[in-house]
Amino acid sequence: MRIDILSIFPEMFEGPFHHSIIKRAMEKGLVEIQIHNIRDYALSKHKNVDDYPYGGGSGMVMMAEPIAMAIDDLKSKFTYDAIIFLTPDGEVFNQKTANHFSSFKNLLLLCGHYKGIDERIREKYITHEISIGDYVLSGGELAAMILTDALIRLIPGVLGDETSALSDSFQDGFLSPPVYTRPSDFKGMKVPDILLSGNEKLIAEWKFQQAIERTRSRRPDLLQKDDI
Ligand code: ADE
Repeated sequence: MRIDILSIFPEMFEGPFHHSIIKRAMEKGLVEIQIHNIRDYALSKHKNVDDYPYGGGSGMVMMAEPIAMAIDDLKSKFTYDAIIFLTPDGEVFNQKTANHFSSFKNLLLLCGHYKGIDERIREKYITHEISIGDYVLSGGELAAMILTDALIRLIPGVLGDETSALSDSFQDGFLSPPVYTRPSDFKGMKVPDILLSGNEKLIAEWKFQQAIERTRSRRPDLLQKDDI
């Protein structure tokens, strides 16, 4: 998978993309991530990327031209399966969307800032508008990182143990059951006997029951909709 990200703060991606699973996936050649600075495509001498909104109102709007130039440049080199704009008024991201996007080969992510981007960019280029939740961030960068992380761990070969993404919360429609490691007695709090029993069938049944119970008590909405 190749992921291109358009941002006015490319440095923000340096930390999260250079550690742990994403770093390993890049080293294994399973994913290539390129961050592009929208400012490099700005037309004016001062490299402006925002301007006042027509019709008045507070805040600035990201201008169409630099974004269009950046997207056109990338589209001349790559064919994208999706051009995704991260925005609080987009469709709310979930595991189902992550599964869907993880099968794509080339993705282009656009991070917005200020009051938003010129609407004509959304009309002309954007194929998907995605929000990571009903709250407003300072920009789309953190949202792009979250989306990228959720997709990359689903790419076959990225996780050492192929089954571990399959057993994630949400992947089968349920939250994950509780997990324990040594010691079996922590300050008098004991690991459930069943997990020490060695009986794989009973352990699998226990995990399943715990997953159902946890989902019922914490996220009953997940049991009601066929959305995962
Ligand atoms: N940009 C600002 N807030 C956002 C959100 N909740 N999701 C995606 N992009 C955003």
